[in-house]
Amino acid sequence: MFQPSPWRADFPAIDALQRQHQTYLDSAATTQKPQILLDALSHYYGHGAANVHRAQHLPGALATQAFERSREKVAGWLNAVDSQQIVFTHGATSALNLLAYGLEPLFEAGDEIAISALEHHANLLPWQQLAQRRGLKLVVLPLDSRGLIDLNIALQLIGPRTRVLAVSQLSNVLGAWQPLEPLLAHAQAQGALTVVDGAQGVVHGRHDVRQLGCDFYVFSSHKLYGPDGVGVLYGRSEALARLRHWQFGGEMVQIADYHSASFRPAPLGFEAGTPPIASVIGLGASLDYLAGLDAHAVAEHEAGLHRHLLRGLNDREGIRLLGQPQLALASFVVDGVHNADLAHMLTEQGIAVRAGHHCAMPLLKSLGLDGAIRVSLGLYNDSDDLQRFFEALDQALELLR
Ligand SMILES: Cc1ncc(COP(=O)(O)O)c(C=O)c1O
Repeated sequence: MFQPSPWRADFPAIDALQRQHQTYLDSAATTQKPQILLDALSHYYGHGAANVHRAQHLPGALATQAFERSREKVAGWLNAVDSQQIVFTHGATSALNLLAYGLEPLFEAGDEIAISALEHHANLLPWQQLAQRRGLKLVVLPLDSRGLIDLNIALQLIGPRTRVLAVSQLSNVLGAWQPLEPLLAHAQAQGALTVVDGAQGVVHGRHDVRQLGCDFYVFSSHKLYGPDGVGVLYGRSEALARLRHWQFGGEMVQIADYHSASFRPAPLGFEAGTPPIASVIGLGASLDYLAGLDAHAVAEHEAGLHRHLLRGLNDREGIRLLGQPQLALASFVVDGVHNADLAHMLTEQGIAVRAGHHCAMPLLKSLGLDGAIRVSLGLYNDSDDLQRFFEALDQALELLR
């Protein structure tokens, strides 16, 4: 049965891609953008760009107002207590690097950092590098057979030496919500700071950082139907106050002389230099767009398409799903067919899916794989997109087998 997307027409690029015979099924990598965002960018650049937080003139005041309004919208989106808990970074990756650098003074040799076995490189490598610099132990929490962090083992591995627990909310490979609440509560009871990589999770539903109870939460705007070049680091005020400053320059300083300086607290103390002004304003516009949608209808639509995707994959012989994806995406391999060959043939037929290790090389390796195909869905996808994908898949498999 045809399942249309009520929001497809809001995303002009989907039409443009279709005219180029492209079916976009790679939203977990980045999303297409709603018209409201294009309008916001065009308005900002078309009516006078200006730097923020420094100019007295009218364009500067307007840009600063719009920029700070976006901070408030992000705080509202996450249900943060205060917009001052929202630091703009250049993406989830830079937010996680900021944390791994900023928390470094809290560690002593022999302390531990806990991550999970499914982390994206962005939530693995900054901690791995920190562990190497300071002689720390990186503890990797294993997964159970469903691809979820194994709570029985994880709760034993997180102990009094754990200074930081950093885990993904929703895996970009396995598409499963992780059991964060018991993990975070246990880690905090042990005195650890908790970091949630919300890069994939933030896209689906509303997330309440207070309810989640984490100390830090990070995401990238471009996966949330916003512009690229901007990301968010949310922190509880007490947790942000523990971060050491990381980049130095304009607007983050309180007082500077030639031989010493003092620095502002979060958020501005962690936003050195000119921030991605247009992108921050654009993120605010995308959040307005998302806030105006019927969340229940969105969730139903995404769930319906995901069922269709899983059904189609499960119905075909020789296809092996990775884990037990719950929403938004599915990664798979095909017996006897290399994922790169299959991806190549799908690309030739105008199907935009991702192949490879998905920036989670250790996870793929632990599954005995060097890569997999990932199909991921956005608000704008409809069942015809999946139909085209399955037709292309069948043709490709016929030729490759
Ligand atoms: C789970 C997860 N974490 C972090 C990132 C990094 O995001 P970015 O490349 O936007 O910094 C990604 C991107 O794919 C991701 O899926």
